[in-house]
Amino acid sequence: MIGGKDMPTSYDAIAAWYDGMVRSDSLAGDRMLQHFFDLIGPVDGQQICDLACGQGHVARALARRGAHVTGIDLSSQLIAIARRDEANDPLGITYIVDDAITLASLGDACCDGVICNLALMDIPDLAATFGAVWRILRPAGWFVFAITHPCFEAPHAQWRSSADGTTSREIVTYFTEGFWRSDNPHGVRGQVGAYHRTLATYVNTLLQSGFIIERMAEPQVTGAAREPGYRVVPPWLHVRCTKN
Ligand SMILES: C[S@@+](CC[C@H](N)C(=O)[O-])C[C@H]1O[C@@H](n2cnc3c(N)ncnc32)[C@H](O)[C@@H]1O
Repeated sequence: MIGGKDMPTSYDAIAAWYDGMVRSDSLAGDRMLQHFFDLIGPVDGQQICDLACGQGHVARALARRGAHVTGIDLSSQLIAIARRDEANDPLGITYIVDDAITLASLGDACCDGVICNLALMDIPDLAATFGAVWRILRPAGWFVFAITHPCFEAPHAQWRSSADGTTSREIVTYFTEGFWRSDNPHGVRGQVGAYHRTLATYVNTLLQSGFIIERMAEPQVTGAAREPGYRVVPPWLHVRCTKN
């Protein structure tokens, strides 16, 4: 369903499964993540918030690059996994259970940068979240996020294969924004659902929140991805912006 009464499921309910998937997922592996880090750039010595950090794999990668990282997530179960990793392999990361919509645990202008990897689709209030990010950034601080591509990962989009071997993406609905849940019970979006927004909503909400968009990227999957169609359309959209 889309725009209906179905409610998102907490990642607490799937924390162990999600942790296992992140550690093994080929699409989310180093090659795609490298595009994200290319957009982030050097982080050595910077104070960075990993917003909706999940089990902390991006936070750990940032810390290994020399950043001082605070990971924030609503799921206490995923934060517990992140803290367990931090205890086993200390990188100086602080993990806090908090809501991205308010970021009440973080002070004003405390961060040089904020990153958010594949989580804005999980958060119901985009404007409030961008407002909270803006508040915790220092002047001219940067914000880099990755989202599932709103044009191609629209609700109930389907892969189609033609007799000539070509693959295409069929978009069923794009303009209706709201919460939806995929029919695939084995994927993330079938288990927890997602909030669909148009590309224009993402861009206009960023601008209204006071951000300047510096660069966007639509990385092409070139390796042996799970889905060959991702060589035709990008699975993710990456955005880099700065606090105006
Ligand atoms: C798809 S996961 C991505 C996690 C992580 N960024 C990664 O790269 O694996 C989405 C995350 O958003 C978190 N989340 C959802 N709503 C949130 C909110 N309002 N505030 C903070 N985190 C939230 C979930 O608990 C989950 O960890």
